[in-house]
Amino acid sequence: MTTLPPVDATVAAARERVAAWRAAGARIGFVPTMGALHAGHLALVRNARRSADRVIVSVFVNPTQFAPTEDFGAYPRDLDGDLGKLASVGADAVFAPTTPEMYPAGFSTEIRVGGPSAGLETDFRPHFFAGVATVVAKLLVAVGPDVAVFGEKDFQQLLVVRRLVADLRLPVGIIGHPVEREPDGLALSSRNAYLSPAERATAPTLHAALAAAATSIRAGADADATLAAARARLADAGFVVDYVELRNAADLSPVDRTSTGPLRLLAAARLGRTRLIDNIAV
Ligand code: PAF
Repeated sequence: MTTLPPVDATVAAARERVAAWRAAGARIGFVPTMGALHAGHLALVRNARRSADRVIVSVFVNPTQFAPTEDFGAYPRDLDGDLGKLASVGADAVFAPTTPEMYPAGFSTEIRVGGPSAGLETDFRPHFFAGVATVVAKLLVAVGPDVAVFGEKDFQQLLVVRRLVADLRLPVGIIGHPVEREPDGLALSSRNAYLSPAERATAPTLHAALAAAATSIRAGADADATLAAARARLADAGFVVDYVELRNAADLSPVDRTSTGPLRLLAAARLGRTRLIDNIAV
């Protein structure tokens, strides 16, 4: 029988566990999640394991990154299932705090990161990155890892976290993990569970449109015309497109004629009630 990883429900307990590991000379890896774990999350845990002796995973559906109209209440929750999956990839412990543990009565602090949070997701979810930055800062301070792994599927989030860590000089290395995909190209996401069979069949078009646009731009095609064609392709397939944009990959600043470094193509689009995001290197 597989042994499930132990669960800490308080900051004090997680801190004590990590302090004991550290006292024994271990390097600590951390993977923050909102649970409803899929193969993409498990790949983050395996990645953390490559740079750390002990890996702790947080499972916390963070209310402050959801707007009142969004799916906080409906967000899938399955801690027992998550523990079994985490055991299968050798996670050493789970930090699963309650909401009052993370946001005690009177909580009044919010962290706002500028720079890479401008535009893209912020245009459609203005509350989102303050919620993410606040909870990620709290989780990093609670756990105190040497490295933390974030998926590149949420590419803007990854850059916001890198900015946060640099600005606060938090002593943690941030590792970005490449987007994990289904065989048909759909990026793995807990929200894929919301897709109807028909929507699931259409969903890979998001990656296909981005991949085709990236190939055209790399080959020298006009970026504006290529992005317009990608948006049209998605709309024809039945998506409501929030954005398809080309940005500088290092800081997500808008691309202009002086842009030299790598570029990133990022998109968000809705299929029925499900909002999908994806991105690709150009
Ligand atoms: O990417 C996520 O699952 C969440 O935004 C995170 C980083 C766990 C913060 O709640």
